[in-house]
Amino acid sequence: MTNETKIVVIYHSGYGHTKVQAEAVLAGALSVEGATAELIEADEAAASLDRIDTADAVIFGSPTYMGTVSAPFKAFMDASSAKWQRQAWKNKIAGGFTNSSSQVGDKTGTLQALSVFAAQHGMIWVGLDLLPGNNTSGGSDSNRNRMGASLGAMAQSLADQGADVMPPEADRQTAHYYGARIAKAAQRWAA
Ligand SMILES: Cc1cc2nc3c(=O)[nH]c(=O)nc-3n(C[C@H](O)[C@H](O)[C@H](O)COP(=O)(O)O)c2cc1C
Repeated sequence: MTNETKIVVIYHSGYGHTKVQAEAVLAGALSVEGATAELIEADEAAASLDRIDTADAVIFGSPTYMGTVSAPFKAFMDASSAKWQRQAWKNKIAGGFTNSSSQVGDKTGTLQALSVFAAQHGMIWVGLDLLPGNNTSGGSDSNRNRMGASLGAMAQSLADQGADVMPPEADRQTAHYYGARIAKAAQRWAA
């Protein structure tokens, strides 16, 4: 590719767990030849929305708080309404990830919120194409996509453990894979 594909990862993390996931998504995007990627915290993104205008793909990440996105991430979403009005981010590739402490934890609610948000902006949502990693007797917690998500990437961080160990390696690998998938999708979409 002659032109670089620009990926932006916008995330919030109250206690560092979702930041680890965001960094893995970023590393995955950067692993794709011809892709550039940067992390932007949600409050920073809300204050400088124009930074997103030049991205080819945007990946949204939020911890699951009370079954949906966290309040700081929602503040970014609401701040983006001026961009929505002009459909300034229309036809950009989009994806999303979330992390929570429970196995289920109502994480789907968060990914649904993110995908509806992307659809409102006229973006092209790309899901996770890894089959569930731990739904047979041969599967294990060490497999990628052990959470069994398809709408986006999920991670689970035990509530009493810090971001130095949580989310676990399998979820970090899932996030890495997903970041690469989004970067490749953006390249195909732009071709
Ligand atoms: C206000 C609040 C609400 C939460 N709600 C949920 C929830 O609905 N489901 C869940 O599994 N965990 C929930 N948690 C746990 C967080 O999702 C979990 O600790 C996560 O790792 C936090 O990510 P962070 O360190 O990036 O903020 C909640 C935590 C907080 C602080």
